Amino acid sequence: MKNQKERRTIRRYSDREVSEEMLNGILERAMRAPTCGNMQLYSVVVTRTEEGKKRLAPAHFNQPMVTSAPVVLTVCADFNRFTRWCELRSANPGYDNFLSFMNALADASIFAQQIVNEAEAEGLGTCYLGTVTYNAAQVAEILDLPTLCVPVACITLGWPDEEGVPTERLPLRAVVHEEKYRADSDAQVLDLFKEKEEFEPNKGYVTENGKETLAQVFTDIRYPRAMNEDFSAKFIEYLRKARFFK
Ligand SMILES: Cc1cc2nc3c(=O)[nH]c(=O)nc-3n(C[C@H](O)[C@H](O)[C@H](O)COP(=O)(O)O)c2cc1C
Repeated sequence: MKNQKERRTIRRYSDREVSEEMLNGILERAMRAPTCGNMQLYSVVVTRTEEGKKRLAPAHFNQPMVTSAPVVLTVCADFNRFTRWCELRSANPGYDNFLSFMNALADASIFAQQIVNEAEAEGLGTCYLGTVTYNAAQVAEILDLPTLCVPVACITLGWPDEEGVPTERLPLRAVVHEEKYRADSDAQVLDLFKEKEEFEPNKGYVTENGKETLAQVFTDIRYPRAMNEDFSAKFIEYLRKARFFK
């Protein structure tokens, strides 16, 4: 990837293999990412076999990238390894709580994005799959994850077989606040989303889905309340089972 402004998600991959040497190089460099207390609260499960990918696919609602990508990476927020080391070294670990999950989540997210950066720098294409958190318990079971080890990011990776579609972004002023959070008027908020609403593919989604506004595509179709609440409840239940939440 030459110019970060050109970067885009890649969902179609060629048959070309991603060598173990290349993948290990990417992972090793990604491990240089900043990490909470230098504890490295993450692990990654590498899925390469057809059988392994087929087992994971339903947990990702059969998104085709899971079986078509040569490599599927499941990045986990992992306090299991560190906790066990403490126990083996006469130290009393206190990491079965929500704060520790948040620390491990931060570590794992940073590690995951560093993998994406390193992979794209090699010319590979990547796609995150948010479905990993929707069906975290199912993914954990398939991958034999122990307690205090929760899947938080999934990345499919391979040599691109498409250009990818450039997506729009909010203007810089939408995201940046000088010194304190700016109180935007309703008109200013609408102005921040103007470019998004006028982006041709987004206009297409509104008409295709029979909606009046782009916002309704998000609230009624892509991320509706009932789905968010259902998967939230499931995730909290799983966090309890994984001993990160009491
Ligand atoms: C947390 C997260 C979850 C995502 N989940 C999915 C997914 O399940 N399926 C998919 O096709 N893309 C997924 N993506 C990719 C986004 O759709 C994509 O990054 C976004 O539309 C912007 O496009 P770009 O990356 O090409 O700029 C996800 C990205 C992130 C960061």
